[in-house]
Amino acid sequence: MKWSGNFTRWGFPDEDDRVGSVQDLSLHILDIVENSLAAGARRVEIRIDENLKEDRMTIEIVDDGCGMDEEMMQRVLDPFFTTKIVRRVGLGLPLLSESCRMSNGELGLQSSPGQGTKVRATFQHSHIDRKPLGNMGETLVTLIVGHPEVDLFYEHRKDGAFFSLDTPEIKAALGDIPLNEPRVISALRSHILEGLEELGS
Ligand SMILES: Nc1ncnc2c1ncn2[C@@H]1O[C@H](COP(=O)(O)OP(=O)(O)OP(=O)(O)O)[C@@H](O)[C@H]1O
Ligand SMILES: [Mg+2]
Repeated sequence: MKWSGNFTRWGFPDEDDRVGSVQDLSLHILDIVENSLAAGARRVEIRIDENLKEDRMTIEIVDDGCGMDEEMMQRVLDPFFTTKIVRRVGLGLPLLSESCRMSNGELGLQSSPGQGTKVRATFQHSHIDRKPLGNMGETLVTLIVGHPEVDLFYEHRKDGAFFSLDTPEIKAALGDIPLNEPRVISALRSHILEGLEELGS
């Protein structure tokens, strides 16, 4: 995939009182992936890198959805802008941006119409205001169960350790058994929880 846009940075208007309402990074991730799904993505990659040596945490979400042009990228920073008709206020990206800023990081956005979007959020890992990752297992299970047709790739690095999950591979192994069947869901949940526990996340 080619990226023609540049990373764009933005701040968050002070007057909004919903800042801080998203307690965990896993919930921010759920919000951002929901944007990808709303944009018609068939493939979503979630990459988390916890680099303790450099005291950095990076979260990237890459999709192959409809993308945004430059003007749209500038406008999505404004929490009073959203393409949703029912709710006039779009907060997913501005709230994540604020969480980054609070912990000495930043939010970057790269997108091209018709190709897809990449969101990159960085944080100072040890910062007292860095939100905890939270229940990443539940975020992944929610996404997989709610959208079994979407190919989801998860990669999580923490120093030397690595955990990954790839739904096309799981679907292939399952054959005719659907991904959102209850016994598959509980096996998936345990697999993810064990993997993340081993990683210490
Ligand atoms: N991955 C994406 N691909 C294409 N467009 C996107 C993507 N992410 C965000 N957008 C556009 O940016 C707008 C703002 O996104 P944001 O998450 O901040 O708010 P929202 O999704 O509209 O509302 P909320 O997240 O508060 O429910 C979206 O309405 C959409 O038009
Ligand atoms: Mg959103």
